Amino acid sequence: MIEINKYKNYDEMSKWVVEQIRDAINFNSVTKHFTLGLATGSTPLGIYKYMRDETWDSKKVYTFNLDEYADLPYNHPQSYEHFMEENLFAYKQFRYSYFPENERYDDIIKNNGGIDIQILGIGTNGHIAFNEPGSPRDSLTRKVELTENTRKDNSRFFDIIDDVPTHAWTMGIESIMRAKQIYLLANGKHKKDILEKACYGDITSDIPASYLQEHNNIEVLYCD
Ligand code: F6R
Repeated sequence: MIEINKYKNYDEMSKWVVEQIRDAINFNSVTKHFTLGLATGSTPLGIYKYMRDETWDSKKVYTFNLDEYADLPYNHPQSYEHFMEENLFAYKQFRYSYFPENERYDDIIKNNGGIDIQILGIGTNGHIAFNEPGSPRDSLTRKVELTENTRKDNSRFFDIIDDVPTHAWTMGIESIMRAKQIYLLANGKHKKDILEKACYGDITSDIPASYLQEHNNIEVLYCD
């Protein structure tokens, strides 16, 4: 079981996470570089908005995104790389930003010292990154087929659902669990039910986010 911290509103929730990132970077980066695990989707947009005004030295920071559509050109307007460029990287210059595109991703993360802080959203079916229901606990970065549910959720960013890619590269559950600190965020009443199941219910591959109950350094944030 993990406690769910309810926030007054989306701005407060986003600002709090940025403060944690700031403190951790200021603390860590005196001696070493920092690695930040990033998510796309609507949930972290507030974090990215507030991060733009931060004055810490982003040149010390390596970023690793959780996932990326497979078989989309990198400059496609719906690629996650493009999303990050538009919402964060155009404003903040990081040392290097990685996206998963092959099975070597977990080794690259490891060689960079592991992820210090991982930001996560949750899908309405309990997915984290593109680890859909049924994903094994020991999964690493791999190419997966997207469920109809996820393709439907994500079709709001495309003209028609047929344009949503059928496959993606994603960090696995084990890849995510290796992060030293995780912040799982959910924004909106439509996420409440699945968030409660993930945090209070049984740990099951039916709800991949429920594996996070086994992480010893996770904060769950919710606002409606
Ligand atoms: C995106 C990702 C996804 C989203 C999830 C929630 O990198 O990992 O798992 O976090 O689909 O999406 P939003 O935030 O749009 O509700």
